Amino acid sequence: MDLYEYQAKDLFAAHGVPVLPGAVATTPDEAAAIAADYGVAVVVKAQVKTGGRGKAGGVKLAETAEETKTKAEGILGLDIKGHIVHRVLVTPASDIAEEYYFSFLLDRSNRTFLAMASVEGGMDIEEVAVSKPEALAKIAIDPIAGVDLAKANEIVAAAKFPAEVADQVADTIVKLWETFVSEDATLVEVNPLVRDPHGKIVALDGKVTLDENAGFRHPAHAELVDKAAENPLEAAAKAKDLNYVKLDGEVGIIGNGAGLVMSTLDVVAYAGEKHGGVKPANFLDIGGGASAEVMANGLEIILSDTDVRSVFVNVFGGITACDAVANGIVKALEILGDGATKPLVVRLDGNNVVEGRRILAEANHPLVTVVDTMDNAADRAAELAAAGK
Ligand SMILES: Nc1ncnc2c1ncn2[C@@H]1O[C@H](COP(=O)(O)OP(=O)(O)OP(=O)(O)O)[C@@H](O)[C@H]1O
Ligand SMILES: [Mg+2]
Repeated sequence: MDLYEYQAKDLFAAHGVPVLPGAVATTPDEAAAIAADYGVAVVVKAQVKTGGRGKAGGVKLAETAEETKTKAEGILGLDIKGHIVHRVLVTPASDIAEEYYFSFLLDRSNRTFLAMASVEGGMDIEEVAVSKPEALAKIAIDPIAGVDLAKANEIVAAAKFPAEVADQVADTIVKLWETFVSEDATLVEVNPLVRDPHGKIVALDGKVTLDENAGFRHPAHAELVDKAAENPLEAAAKAKDLNYVKLDGEVGIIGNGAGLVMSTLDVVAYAGEKHGGVKPANFLDIGGGASAEVMANGLEIILSDTDVRSVFVNVFGGITACDAVANGIVKALEILGDGATKPLVVRLDGNNVVEGRRILAEANHPLVTVVDTMDNAADRAAELAAAGK
């Protein structure tokens, strides 16, 4: 889960990383009131979960409360790379002597953590990384040893931070590592980390990605979820512990096992080309234990998606055999009753397939078509979706 800048900086502050105060506004008047409270020049910053806000006009200086209102008016509602700005952070303006870059991240390709640091931070760090790679120090971090002051000093030296800020930067790096580890983050990034004219180091921006797999260790992280920005179907699926991702097509997909569901998306997209370009409407993996309840929950979510015109249930019986899945489908349709309104194409294979197909044939539900192969079932589901458009 990506955090907003203001949330990232709240976490920084909780771990002792130096940040500026700030408050979030959702209207220009609120922004002006915050600026009036500070009584100094402020920076109004778009809160969206994407980079390049400054370049898109989402970061503006305002000398007065009145000007803060005008700047907030211009930023609220702005579309930054497809993200609409619904709130702004109002924070005192800082004089800046130098802008640096710092991050900790999970380096999947090297199966370790990585620190990246540069004294050429600011808005163009991606550019620096390409055109001047030697200016971006990359230091692997042993996850067991972590980052103590000695390691932080090594990073400071590798990135050639100026001597007068070296101690402060090293101290900040240790605290950023504490943030990274104790919050179970996969990314902690500060760009820019600035030196002000008095020589003080401050994190002026913050990006944090939290590892949702560790969510159970952090009940407080639940409050960081932006409920309003969540897709309502995805939120409903999450509440029922389903692995569901909304897509933009018309064929609802249910399968067991992520690999099978992904290949189902492929065959449906392929089949859809012959049927007016219909596409998968979602990814839904109901996992190994395809009980009637799980099947009903999954079907309910998919059928409540108004884009869905047909549903393809693609199950390979393994540990959970096909007869259990077939019973699950029959019971799920009973549970849903009149709530089930769209045609279902079912393909069952694997363990106990004959019995599974017999159960579906016997139930003889008017919405259900059983098709023998995955390709034929995808074709039928795409055809039904095209017909229902
Ligand atoms: N409080 C502040 N005082 C003065 N200048 C600021 C302040 N906050 C940001 N800036 C200036 O604005 C620039 C852009 O701000 P920031 O890094 O937060 O956004 P961004 O880098 O454009 O967005 P993103 O990090 O999403 O790519 C900074 O590099 C800095 O020069
Ligand atoms: Mg930035």
